[in-house]
Amino acid sequence: MKIDRCVCHEKSFAYLLKVAEDHDCASLESLQKHVTFGSTCGLCHIYIERTLKTKEVEFYQVLQAETPSPKHKH
Ligand code: FES
Repeated sequence: MKIDRCVCHEKSFAYLLKVAEDHDCASLESLQKHVTFGSTCGLCHIYIERTLKTKEVEFYQVLQAETPSPKHKH
C-alpha cells in the first residue's frame, strides 16, 4: 500500500512539500496557512511531518510516532 497524499483533501505529499519549500514552512501548522489539508481525519499529519523533516513523499508502511526514518537507521 502506498501512502502519498492527504486523502481527505486530495493533496499529495509531493505537492505539500513544494508549497512548504516555496513558503519556507518548517511545521505542519505554518504549512496549513498556505494550503488546506489535514483538517478532516488528521491521519496524514504524521506523514506530512515526516515529509517536512526528511523530504520523503511516499510511504509504504503505516507510521507511528516512533517509527524511525529509513534515512536515520542506526
Ligand atoms: S488524510 Fe489528511 S485529513 Fe484525512
